[in-house]
Amino acid sequence: MKVKFDENFLFGAATSAFQIEGALNEDGRGELFWDHILKSFNADPNIACDHYHRYKEDIRLMKDLGLETYRFSISWVRIVPDGSGDINQKGIEFYNDLIDELISNEIKPLITLSHFDVPFIFYKKGGWKNQEIIDAYHRYVKVCLENFGDRVDYWLTFNEPWVDQYLINIMMKSPGIKKSGEMFADCLNSIHNLFIAHAKTIETFHHMDKDNKVGIALNLGPGYPHTDSDDDKKAAMMFDEFLNTWFLELAINGRYNSNLFKYYQESVGAPEITDEDKILLKNNKSDFIGVNFYGPFIIKASKKNFPLNYEGFQGERSKDWANNAKVVPEGLFEILMRIKDHYGNPTTFITENGCSFGDEELNDIKDEWRIDYVKKHLREVKRAIDNGVNVKRYYLWSLMDNLEWIQGYEERYGLIYIDREHNLERKIKKSGNWYSKLIKNREFTI
Ligand code: FCB
Repeated sequence: MKVKFDENFLFGAATSAFQIEGALNEDGRGELFWDHILKSFNADPNIACDHYHRYKEDIRLMKDLGLETYRFSISWVRIVPDGSGDINQKGIEFYNDLIDELISNEIKPLITLSHFDVPFIFYKKGGWKNQEIIDAYHRYVKVCLENFGDRVDYWLTFNEPWVDQYLINIMMKSPGIKKSGEMFADCLNSIHNLFIAHAKTIETFHHMDKDNKVGIALNLGPGYPHTDSDDDKKAAMMFDEFLNTWFLELAINGRYNSNLFKYYQESVGAPEITDEDKILLKNNKSDFIGVNFYGPFIIKASKKNFPLNYEGFQGERSKDWANNAKVVPEGLFEILMRIKDHYGNPTTFITENGCSFGDEELNDIKDEWRIDYVKKHLREVKRAIDNGVNVKRYYLWSLMDNLEWIQGYEERYGLIYIDREHNLERKIKKSGNWYSKLIKNREFTI
């Protein structure tokens, strides 16, 4: 079977600042919460891919691959080192040069304004739970728009608020410290504050230049029950509604899903929402939606994770269980159809999709299995387009092997291999050559 994409569909790859830049202590960069967290995980972020020094070489490689667009993130603490104070011209210079280099190579930038970035100072004050961060973020993004807005028209305010405000909190805080209900209530508050910042950014960006398009990257995926039992089905539904409905409703319709709101309010307590908040959210809906898809979630009923009452099921790591998620490309089709059928079919980009197997042999540069994975997912993207879904771009995660947060450097998601034994030498993988052919020919066979 041939799968074809037309010329208007754009193919790209994605990264994030902390995962590739390195150079943590250079040119006035401030501290992120990750700088500290990773110390206890034995993954030194100081080098990452040394992209801070090698960005020109990396853009040359993007050009060799034929990428039409590149999604990267700006590091908040390079621009405003302490989160809310002085502006760092060196940081602005770096991203100016990066953007210029991309544009002179005809690669369209898509900027993520915060990819799990929380300045350490704000982390110590509670992160997004503390409303103080809203104004600081809003000021930082205005600086970005003022400096880069002449050359950039597509922006993502945040990456994966579910992971950032929920999953990471669950992983970082030891469960004994707070009851999970209290933690869930905190998390709803953080998400609320983050969406207020999202809406304010849209308001400001549209006001400063009406051609700006502002979206958000959500990690979405269906929740499937582990067994056919009614309990598992109920748990899967509750999980799915939080992961998908809660965020899509906020991002696309600028409001809360009232049934879920009521349930959370009665079980753990929901955020206080003022009339002003409601108006702000309603008047500033996202211009487009970013979908990060790695697989469905397999859910079992459990007493854990109140008030959702679930536990995730993990299969053994294999080609069928990449990235700790089950490989089910049809799940991407399902999510895209939901966006079309229930949310008015907004412009949609796949802002992340990709795989790592955490296995040395499979992680080799002859990565046939990655080609297979991407083909199967792109076939679902095309099926969605043929069914009327408004998908316009696909960003493969990731351009190059990088620092996979607490999992360190062992997980390799890249189209480009980074040889950590030989001075971080870059080598295009088999998947990279395949992707490059696809971009040129606009089709592949499966
Ligand atoms: C996503 C993150 C990205 C990367 C991939 C594998 O959740 O957005 O930074 O870690 O997973």
